[in-house]
Amino acid sequence: MKITVVGTGYVGLVTGTCFAETGNDVTCVDIDANKVQKLSSGQITIYEPGLEKLFERNLKEDRLHFTTSLEEGIKEAAVIFLALPTPPGADGAADLSYVLGVADQLGKLITDYTVIVDKSTVPVGTAEKVAAAIARNTTVPFDVVSNPEFLREGVAVDDFMKPDRVIIGTESEKARKVMGELFAPFVRQGNPVIYMDEKSAELTKYAANSFLATKISFMNEIAILCEKLGADVDMVRRGIGSDDRIGKRFLFPGIGYGGSCFPKDVQALVKSSEEANYDFKILNAVMDVNEAQKLFLIPKIKAYFGNDLKGKHFAMWGLAFKPNTDDIREAPALYMIDYLLAEGATIAVFDPEAMGNVKQVMGDKISYGEHQYNCLENADALIICTEWSVFRTPDFNKISTALKNKAIFDGRNLFEVSRMSELGYHYESVGRTP
Ligand code: UGA
Repeated sequence: MKITVVGTGYVGLVTGTCFAETGNDVTCVDIDANKVQKLSSGQITIYEPGLEKLFERNLKEDRLHFTTSLEEGIKEAAVIFLALPTPPGADGAADLSYVLGVADQLGKLITDYTVIVDKSTVPVGTAEKVAAAIARNTTVPFDVVSNPEFLREGVAVDDFMKPDRVIIGTESEKARKVMGELFAPFVRQGNPVIYMDEKSAELTKYAANSFLATKISFMNEIAILCEKLGADVDMVRRGIGSDDRIGKRFLFPGIGYGGSCFPKDVQALVKSSEEANYDFKILNAVMDVNEAQKLFLIPKIKAYFGNDLKGKHFAMWGLAFKPNTDDIREAPALYMIDYLLAEGATIAVFDPEAMGNVKQVMGDKISYGEHQYNCLENADALIICTEWSVFRTPDFNKISTALKNKAIFDGRNLFEVSRMSELGYHYESVGRTP
């Protein structure tokens, strides 16, 4: 099938590459000429495990193309995916100007029946708005489908190739058939393709992310309570997770959720609720808990240093909002850094992938280690913000030799509390009493 993907961010590039991998002829369109030039010449623009190999293969085999021209990019396309940004506007609602801007142009450009698919996370009612924007400029038949994506950064290729489910939101039988054919190779193991109306599909995406964010904020509050009552959150997590109705996944407490999705989507759903005259009480609490959780370690650090962080020097491991990505959007580590700097502390950081992105934001306000051990030199304590595998079994001799105090503040519960006390560390984590 001939497919066009408009927007080559994380979602667009993964979508385009994976559709090419199943034999489709894919053209990706982006207004950023520099990006298109890089991608066309075989240079991948995002870090996503497993993607580069597929990208190179499909580019070489001429199934994957890049252009800045929407007109050229959509020629003969049976399906056009919109994978465009929907950043939060000043009022917290998703800004639809990119999506609707492209829809407006598509109306002028399509020449034959086309299925136009919203892949971006968009508020309920957007498919209707996209259809209206297209219809303003054309009499050619088309259908608009809501097909939200559920990719996780770091495992996006696997999530795309073997999705838990595919949601296809349209009441058009013709569009359902086209979409069903396109996704058939991805659900061969029997995972469901769930057909529904556009609005339910749009809401499904927000409900999924908001539910997962709720699980995390709930566990973060349980962790706080564990510390107050002398219980161990690891035990409670395992205890409740083995109930199928709760599930084992997404119950890990930490220093809050970040990234480009959860914070934005929870906020947008609250905003949509307000617009529908409904106060979504649980989600307001989820956001408040997460805001506070980002600085969860600070009182512990302050207490250890007699409430004065001025002149203290900290080492920080992990900057990305989660492991296996270079993405630092809404990363709790950055909130910690800002707070510590404002208190007069200095910081040396290390992250396996996100250093470049952090340098662009923080510049020389902090220093950067070449590897995880040399950023520890002369630090008063080590703070851990992201659970990269490489931090899980470190050389504790190297750590204690480099640090001034044997003190670790761990926002991701990487080590056993009993082991750390055997090793003689002052070790504090989330929801586990030393
Ligand atoms: C999330 C969803 O998981 C995807 O299904 C969805 O497609 C995507 O948003 C999106 O809307 O595009 P992602 O933001 O890549 O994916 O990251 P997650 O792996 O979900 O992690 C989100 C945050 O929750 C991270 O900051 C992570 O550290 C935190 N988290 C996750 C916890 O604090 N505890 C957990 O148990 C799990």
